[in-house]
Amino acid sequence: MREKRKLDHLKLALQSNTQSNSSSFDELHFVHRSLPEKNVQESTLSTKIGGQQLNSPLIINAMTGGAFSTEKVNHDLAVIASETGIALAVGSQKAALRNKELIRTYQIVREVNSKGPIFANLSADSHVEDAMNAIDMIQADMLQLHLNIPQELVMPEGDRNFNGIIDKIHRIKEAVSVPVIVKEVGFGMCQETYKVLNDIGIEIIDVGGKGGTNFVWIENERREAKDFDFIKNWGQSAALSLIESSAYQDKIDFISSGGIRNPLDMVKSFALGAKGVGLASPILALLKEHGIEKTIDQIHNWHDQLKSILTMLGISCIEDVIGTPLIIGGTTKEWCECRDIDYKVYAKRGLSE
Ligand SMILES: Cc1cc2nc3c(=O)[nH]c(=O)nc-3n(C[C@H](O)[C@H](O)[C@H](O)COP(=O)(O)O)c2cc1C
Repeated sequence: MREKRKLDHLKLALQSNTQSNSSSFDELHFVHRSLPEKNVQESTLSTKIGGQQLNSPLIINAMTGGAFSTEKVNHDLAVIASETGIALAVGSQKAALRNKELIRTYQIVREVNSKGPIFANLSADSHVEDAMNAIDMIQADMLQLHLNIPQELVMPEGDRNFNGIIDKIHRIKEAVSVPVIVKEVGFGMCQETYKVLNDIGIEIIDVGGKGGTNFVWIENERREAKDFDFIKNWGQSAALSLIESSAYQDKIDFISSGGIRNPLDMVKSFALGAKGVGLASPILALLKEHGIEKTIDQIHNWHDQLKSILTMLGISCIEDVIGTPLIIGGTTKEWCECRDIDYKVYAKRGLSE
């Protein structure tokens, strides 16, 4: 059942991404500067997440493993990550913890990419021993614990009892030796969630916002009656999730993901406080449609384009993006008004200098 589900996800994910044609990132605007006094070649894209130095802020986010045919996909993703120097997360390793024959479908990433940053992945509803085994399986540099409650509820065979997950995350965080990332899978997060995670010592969060891969839509497609269609817009965008995170950014490193389409979305994420950006289905789509070489070229191109945008903003590194003014409009602004979040603070940054 789990193997079949993994294959369904690979197939349906690419269709799900075409479901939304607008993005909250389009409601955010930088202020153009005509005299940046910067040189593109002096820009750097390095960043620090969970105390680990990364050469690029890009992460190929968790997707697959766990069905025999997915070994090839993970092999290709590992080649892409290795050639471009970006981090790679494997998909949920639960399948391999239950069936040892599937371990290969994950270990291939470490074989191909022996030195690069690789993240393990499990549901947040996991036991400490499973978390340790998942890390060991691929000698992971970090562990992602995913939260996907709407997906489970729409999934016919999904979980229905979510009691005790906070305690499980806490126990795993205390027990494992690598940094723990708590991530959503496309529904976003809010201040209330950040408070809970901060209280149990979580130091890295991937906001996994709405607007890209849509797991309610995917699971609804897998239901015979397709009767959960009405809930397909559930959740917060990555932009909103980052805006919600401002009070926690000095304690927690945030990663932006969910519907990231291009380098401008990435730089807007940095302006909202993110230290890294995760992409899942856009990488899968590139790989499927254009193959390994073209995907590598595209990521190199994104790196160059990121540097171009930094230069236009008059800065040379990712951590300085947070000082640049950003205008917030549309429904994102309305959300801020309703939640009593001061969106004008973003527009006024740097004005007194
Ligand atoms: C085919 C596929 C499988 C996925 N499987 C997992 C998974 O096993 N664990 C997980 O944490 N996230 C999983 N995700 C979610 C992604 O990591 C990411 O959070 C989500 O797709 C939003 O990013 P995107 O809009 O760039 O695709 C999967 C995504 C896709 C497309």
